[in-house]
This record gives sequence, C-alpha cells and structure tokens, in this order.
Amino acid sequence: MNKRAETGSVVETGAFWMPFTANRQFKKAPRLLARAEGMYYWTADGRQVLDGQAGLWCVNAGHCRPKIVEAVRRQVGEMDFAPTFNMGHPIAFEFAERLAGVAPAGFSRVFFTNSGSESADTALKIALAYHRARGEGHRFRLIGRERGYHGVNFGGMAVGGIPSNRKVFGPGVAGVDHLRHTHGLSGNFFSKGQPPHGAELADELERLCAFHDPSTIAAVIVEPVAGSAGVLVPPRGYLERLRELCTRHGILLIFDEVITGFGRLGHPFASQRFGVMPDLFTVAKGMTNGTVPMGAVFARDAIHEAFMQGPDGIELFHGYTYSGHPLGCAAGIATLETYEEEGLLTRGASLEKHFEAGLHALKGERHVIDLRNVGLMGAVELEPRPSRPGTRAYEAFLKCFAAGVLIRHTGDTLAFSPPLIIEKAQIDRIFDTVRAALSAVD
Ligand SMILES: Cc1ncc(COP(=O)(O)O)c(C=O)c1O
Repeated sequence: MNKRAETGSVVETGAFWMPFTANRQFKKAPRLLARAEGMYYWTADGRQVLDGQAGLWCVNAGHCRPKIVEAVRRQVGEMDFAPTFNMGHPIAFEFAERLAGVAPAGFSRVFFTNSGSESADTALKIALAYHRARGEGHRFRLIGRERGYHGVNFGGMAVGGIPSNRKVFGPGVAGVDHLRHTHGLSGNFFSKGQPPHGAELADELERLCAFHDPSTIAAVIVEPVAGSAGVLVPPRGYLERLRELCTRHGILLIFDEVITGFGRLGHPFASQRFGVMPDLFTVAKGMTNGTVPMGAVFARDAIHEAFMQGPDGIELFHGYTYSGHPLGCAAGIATLETYEEEGLLTRGASLEKHFEAGLHALKGERHVIDLRNVGLMGAVELEPRPSRPGTRAYEAFLKCFAAGVLIRHTGDTLAFSPPLIIEKAQIDRIFDTVRAALSAVD
C-alpha cells in the first residue's frame, strides 16, 4: 500500500463516487479498510475491526482464506480470461457442476452472472423467455414485494420495493406489481426465528391474480428472508402459501438467495431451511466468498429443458462478457471446497441459538423496538428520532466501528451477518459492543 493510501489522504481528491454512500459526509471523515484476515479487518491506520457483516453479506468463510487466494493466483497466471459465447473453458463447466452438486435436487443448470443485480435480472428474463418458449408469451407481469431488494439494475429495481432505490429513476419496467411486505404485524415483534403471524399475507398474490388475470403473470420474486430492508424473516407458513398459489396459477416462483445462499441460515440454501422449493433461484456474494465478483441463476431442470426443445441455434439471447469468468470460477471452486472442508454450509445451525440469545438479550436496551433473527442473520430495530430517520442507527454504527466492530445499518435497523467461521466469544463481543453503543446514543 502506498503512503497516501495508508494515511487516508488519497480520499481528499474525492474522485471515487461511492455507491450507496453519503459521499460528502464520508469524505470529511473517511473510514478506510486496508487489510483483512479471518474474522477481522484492519483499518488504514492499523486498528483491528471484528467483521460482523461478512464484508457485505458475502465473506461467509472469513477473509483471505489461503485456499481461495491461492486458486485465484494460480488461475490468473494460467488463463486470465476466456470467452463463453460459443466457446468454453473447463473450469466454468467444472464450477457449474460443483454448484449443481450443492444445490437442492432438480437444479442442475446454472447460468453465470457477475453480481446479485445481474442474477435478479437474469432470473426475470429466464422466466419471461420460459413462458414464451412454451407458447405462453401472454405471461409478462412480474411481481415483487414491498421492502424487497433485488439489486439496482432495471429489472431488479422494478420488482424491488425499497422506495428510495426506485423513486428518482423513472417509470422502470412495465407490468410490475408488488405484494405487501410482511413486517410489523403486532404479535410478531421480538420473534425468535419465523414470526407466528402473517401467512395470510401471501394471499395478496390471489388478489393480484384476480386483479390482473393470473394468465398474465410470469413470475413472483421474493427474498426468502429480506436482507437489505432489515432482516425480515418470513412468517410461518407464508412461503409455503406463496408456493402453493404460484403452482396453482402457473406462475414461476423465484427466490433471491443472494444473501441467504451458501450457509447463512444453517443450510446451504434458504429453500432447504424453509422446506419450500422455488422454480429459479439467484445467488452471488458467498458464491466466491466475495473474492471475485460473480453470481448465478439456478433453474429447475424442467425450465432449462423447455429452452432445449426449439430449432437449433442460440436458446437464450442473454449473457455477459464475464459470465463464467475463469477467476470467478477458480475462486468459487476453492470457496466450495473451503465450505465443505470446514462444514460451513451448516455450521450456522450450531451457532444459531447462541447468536439468538445474544441478540435477544438486547431487549429492553435504549431505543430497541424489535429484535429478529434466523440462522446467522439478525437485526435490532431502533425507534427512529422524530423527523430524523436513520440517524440513530447511523450513530450506533459509528460507535461500534470506533469500538472495533463492523456492523451494517439500514434505515433505523442494525443488521448482523458475521462470517460463518465466527466463534461464540466473537458473537458475544458484537452484541456487547452494540449494547454499549446504544447506551451512548441519544
Ligand atoms: C437479495 C439481494 N439481491 C440482489 C442483490 C444485489 O447484489 P449486487 O450488489 O451483487 O448486485 C443483493 C445485494 O445485497 C441482495 O441482497
């Protein structure tokens, strides 16, 4: 690292237009991470910081794991890039096969993307094209959910339901509608795991079917657990009901597993945790342990098969220059091996009760109006300050960071998703730090 980066003076030019960041505020008091290993970051000025958010919900095996680092090094020296449009390279086929090996039965086809946003848009396009391939081109509507997050591209933004991510970007994609979100029902506050009330909110889909005519609806997309909107755990029976209604009306159900995939809920995928299978699901983040940007869409075999029935030629006019990028594939294979060797795709299950107890011990602390968790995902919702929403959680986040713990804040919610290698003492440290931060914030 050069001297300017070490001292932070590199930020002064402000050339980096930072994503989802209050740029002016940040650049006045930058927070720079310079190194990472295992459960920790080190700041540019040498402070050690415990990572309570797995980077950004992605570094599930912890940072700079030697096997992954080595695989990427080896691959970049051997073949830096190769196209996958009408060409192939073995490592892309190998990674797809390995991924199919950890996916639920019946999902043996994998389409590579480079991010969660691209995965969401790819899944939506596959759904539309699938119906068309089967002679049901009249199915063009896409249904998302309020407070859903499916990335920032036009498709994902359209089906997403976070108002600030949508409102300044014009009319977006036509034919989109939204289910109500499932948060805030009385009787669900401070739930451990799935909240008891709200399965009937899935019947919203029945209402939209009646309103639009179900034969116009191509797909419903939801996060099994909404992450970015503040860890919203599905009410008991909700996903089951959604599945039932989609099947009844010939609508494809897409799970966005960009956060929940690869062990976050103590199972490889959320569909396995909840016992509800979608028709398509998206992944990214933990797929390469965050090392190389990469994502994918898994399709049920029957969906893939529907594309393979037409005349010879390109079956799906879609793809990215970097679909199946060799570095991503190398990182991904080494990631899967690391997960397997260390049992990380299920380790969350053995830590869930400890994590839950630590989180719920914050009940009664200042400002706390809700606590919720599932697997190694958790959230503390704070009472917003009148007319200054979000500022209280932001200040709590700053205090935690100053105390050496990195957590996520979104609106007035603090969110936790540590690497799956976390130890119990480190879980305790995260929640003790949050407790101290809350008592210091007014
Ligand atoms: C559920 C979900 N889908 C999609 C995305 C977008 O992923 P990316 O930022 O890699 O485009 C995210 C990112 O947090 C996500 O949580």
